[in-house]
Amino acid sequence: MDKSKLEALLKDMSLTEKIEQLVQLHGNFFGGGEKLTGPEAEFDLPEDFPYRTGSVLGERGAEKLHKLQDEIMAKQPHHIPAVFMTDVIHGYETAFPVPIAIGSSFDPKLAEELASAAALEASAAGIHVTFSPMVDVARDSRWGRCMESTGEDPWLNGQFAAAMVKGFQGDDYGKKGKVASCAKHFAAYGAVQSGRDYNVTEISERTLFEDYLPPYKAAVDAGVSMVMTAFNTIDRVPCTINKRLMRDILRKKWGFEGVLITDYGAINESIIHGASEDKKDAARKAIEAGCDVDMVTDCYARYLEELVNEGTVPESLVDEAVMRLLELKNRLGLFENPYKDGSDESEKKYCFCKEHRELSRKAAEECTVLLKNNGVLPLSGKEKIAIIGALADDKEITGTWALFACKEKTVTLKEAFEQLYPKADITYVISDSDTESAVSAAKAADVVILALGENENYTGESRSRADISLFKEQKELFSKVYEANKNIVTVLFGGRPLAVPDEAEKSAAMLEAWLPGSCGCYAVADILFGKVNPSGRLSMSMPYCSGQLPISYSAYSTGRPKPDGAKGFIPFLSNYMDVPNVPLYPFGHGLSYSDIEYSAVRLDKAEMTADDKITASVTVKNNGSMPAWEAVQLYIRDIKASVVRPMKQLKGLQKISLAPNEEKTVSFEISGEMLSFYDINMEFKPEKGKFTLWIGGSSLTENSADFELI
Ligand code: NOJ
Repeated sequence: MDKSKLEALLKDMSLTEKIEQLVQLHGNFFGGGEKLTGPEAEFDLPEDFPYRTGSVLGERGAEKLHKLQDEIMAKQPHHIPAVFMTDVIHGYETAFPVPIAIGSSFDPKLAEELASAAALEASAAGIHVTFSPMVDVARDSRWGRCMESTGEDPWLNGQFAAAMVKGFQGDDYGKKGKVASCAKHFAAYGAVQSGRDYNVTEISERTLFEDYLPPYKAAVDAGVSMVMTAFNTIDRVPCTINKRLMRDILRKKWGFEGVLITDYGAINESIIHGASEDKKDAARKAIEAGCDVDMVTDCYARYLEELVNEGTVPESLVDEAVMRLLELKNRLGLFENPYKDGSDESEKKYCFCKEHRELSRKAAEECTVLLKNNGVLPLSGKEKIAIIGALADDKEITGTWALFACKEKTVTLKEAFEQLYPKADITYVISDSDTESAVSAAKAADVVILALGENENYTGESRSRADISLFKEQKELFSKVYEANKNIVTVLFGGRPLAVPDEAEKSAAMLEAWLPGSCGCYAVADILFGKVNPSGRLSMSMPYCSGQLPISYSAYSTGRPKPDGAKGFIPFLSNYMDVPNVPLYPFGHGLSYSDIEYSAVRLDKAEMTADDKITASVTVKNNGSMPAWEAVQLYIRDIKASVVRPMKQLKGLQKISLAPNEEKTVSFEISGEMLSFYDINMEFKPEKGKFTLWIGGSSLTENSADFELI
């Protein structure tokens, strides 16, 4: 449909009909759904109202959506098709590793591939829009939702955001197998105070612009079609009614023309925050702030018409919002084909298909992070092994935001070992509490694999924890097993970097497996047995304890810094009496079975102007006997500026493959843009002076060179 037809349609719609388009309800509002509870039970909307809304949340299945679409279109005065939106975040029926794990692949191309596979499955099941990517910067692992983020770094999250948008949407999300993508949660949700979900954020303007906004901007620049608001406040204003955030920054400054949707129930929550008087006031503030679609409240449904009729809200605001939604429907091709790709046949063909299961395994090969290894890994296959811990045979390691995953088919670690290594000599004790059996198995074994951490029920929305160390029972299990056998390989599961300093110190090796999805445990088994060389890197620092949070490698120098490498507490310097300042394992950290050697950094010149470029290169060599993947990372520091600059910031990344003995030269171009920041006047530009850059395999690399911006 061309724009003039959309305009004619809009013109022909009544105010009531237009407002109905802006309301999103979930499946339980439609006949046959579960009984409504909580605030939704009080909506008091006419019985057939849901069929006149513009979009539906959380429903899936080609046949079901086909029928629902027919019913909706039949009941709408202009027979406008509905958009079916839901969360397809790390896979649809095939679950891929959770986003924090995908971030740890340090491989945005992989993220694109996974998003594309998820889009193929979801679109076959009749879904049109996914509420992904979640691009919030996460530096506090008390926050359960860090599982949904690709990590702590604004630049890296931006790379992943753009890659995922591309994977979901392709170059045209109207095409077969593609879905429209919605970046969330705008904005700075990751900065919720104390890591407690839905809490306020208290960050400076500079921190907002420099650390939190860039990934959303990257998603917008990549052509994301929707943006979702966040539950938190910014500068004491709930994001959902934050005009400056949405109208001034997102729309005007960044030129976002897509659909803005609230998070679930968020307009109503502005009343509970104490920022709106009542539902009517909340509806006014949300539409004025720029929210097009109201996700599951009755604020727009019940009050927007009244607000327009009494002249408080101009009808043009409603028209603008409706037009954006109609444009989305049009780009999806729904006016021509309201079911888009939903078909029983494709659903059967693509959902949980072999290719995607293989992709889930391949993804986990890249996402699993080898944190420590004293040489016990890889296993030779000849050892007597004891595998201990309830998580070694728990299907709830699939991850919570693959809502529609075939969980019963998720492969556990035990199943992976049994299928892939049937001849290995393994005794299993699948329990955290049966310490007696664990100890006797450990005593009889050459090596113990201890599966510890959290299953999926302990991370995700609302799953904040103040103490992020292992559960008491697991700590006791570890101690008892350690007394029996010191040769422990700890495999950590979970959606957050846990605080495990004692267990890390005592383990011979430690592997972060995250929540690896449908077939990820095959990859974990293959890494343990050395069939796959690990290449994951932490995209979120692992702290010593909650007291260090929030924490990031990208920290600032105080006026009394602790000297690099200094150990123990030093009075009157900025340090803790009980733990180091640095995390246990920092951002970018991850080991390989190969010895990867970096040459010194070479610069083609030592000075540049802002319009010029410097090329920085290293030669990277695989001295090991296995093929390896290496995430070559570029960090930069601005030594002195009008405002204090981070001690290191990731500015470039190349993930390369290296055959045994192979060496490759990796080069990065340093541009004026890469040196820019929000200066003392909040102008984004570089300042002249000295810089240091590092190229290496982690944020701890000391492989540096200096240059000057003149
Ligand atoms: C609430 C969550 O915050 C958001 O991420 C999700 O997309 C919506 N619910 C819809 O399920």
